[in-house]
Amino acid sequence: MFGRIFRKKQEQKDFSGLVMPRHIGFIMDGNGRWATRRGLPRVAGHTAGGEAFKKICEYCINRNIDMITVYAFSTENWKRPQEEIEGLMKLFVENMHESIEGKRAKDMAITFIGDRTVFSPEMQKLMAETEKAHEHCPNKMNIAINYGGRAEIVRAARILAESGQEITEETMSRNMYTSHGPDPELIVRTGGEKRLSNFMLWQSAYSEFYFTDVLWPDFDEEQLDKALDYYRSVSRRFGGIK
Ligand code: IPE
Ligand code: IPE
Ligand code: MG
Repeated sequence: MFGRIFRKKQEQKDFSGLVMPRHIGFIMDGNGRWATRRGLPRVAGHTAGGEAFKKICEYCINRNIDMITVYAFSTENWKRPQEEIEGLMKLFVENMHESIEGKRAKDMAITFIGDRTVFSPEMQKLMAETEKAHEHCPNKMNIAINYGGRAEIVRAARILAESGQEITEETMSRNMYTSHGPDPELIVRTGGEKRLSNFMLWQSAYSEFYFTDVLWPDFDEEQLDKALDYYRSVSRRFGGIK
């Protein structure tokens, strides 16, 4: 009667046999402070954050991580000054062009998650083109833009209700933006704050959390390995005993 609900969790390993998460979420926080400390405008921090992001993608591919989800812009970030929002949007556009042109040594299959209907038709077209450009890459990346975890849960419930489907954990999971991959085993937040800020609320039910004071533009390969070491050090019980 009480059959196994969850499929056996498969362990992911890198090319040298080290245990790795299959999916990592990154809350890339601290760009603004990084810039302010250097007497630079906040947008310069986002540019530096973009460079860190590209390197982290490459390190994750090298470590055989199937999927990453990066928090680039939340539904709450519209509260920021217009100048900063415009700077961020400009950066997103530049990065999309760069990605489409295939200028990077290694790439991932990109999916933008969040409500993209608020963006201009040109921006939405560019997002679709970016997704198309590397759709056959084996490693996957979700870029959360105008993303909110609560909005995502409401959206899933609405899809199910409107189509008359049963609402279960299974059907809800299937209607999350990240349903093409496993839930994140690890969520990393830089910048010192210990909160989710509306990131992957549904998917993080059993994630491990790694918080670091390092600001996102300074998050490098060594820092990534520290987060992975932490992940390997925790005992994951999922409510059971070991
Ligand atoms: C995170 O860095 C990036 C975005 C929210 C786009 P912040 O801009 O929040 O940097 P801090 O937290 O102000 O330092
Ligand atoms: C979270 O950072 C959002 C992103 C990294 C895109 P915020 O800087 O917006 O979060 P709060 O305001 O510290 O919670
Ligand atoms: Mg912040």
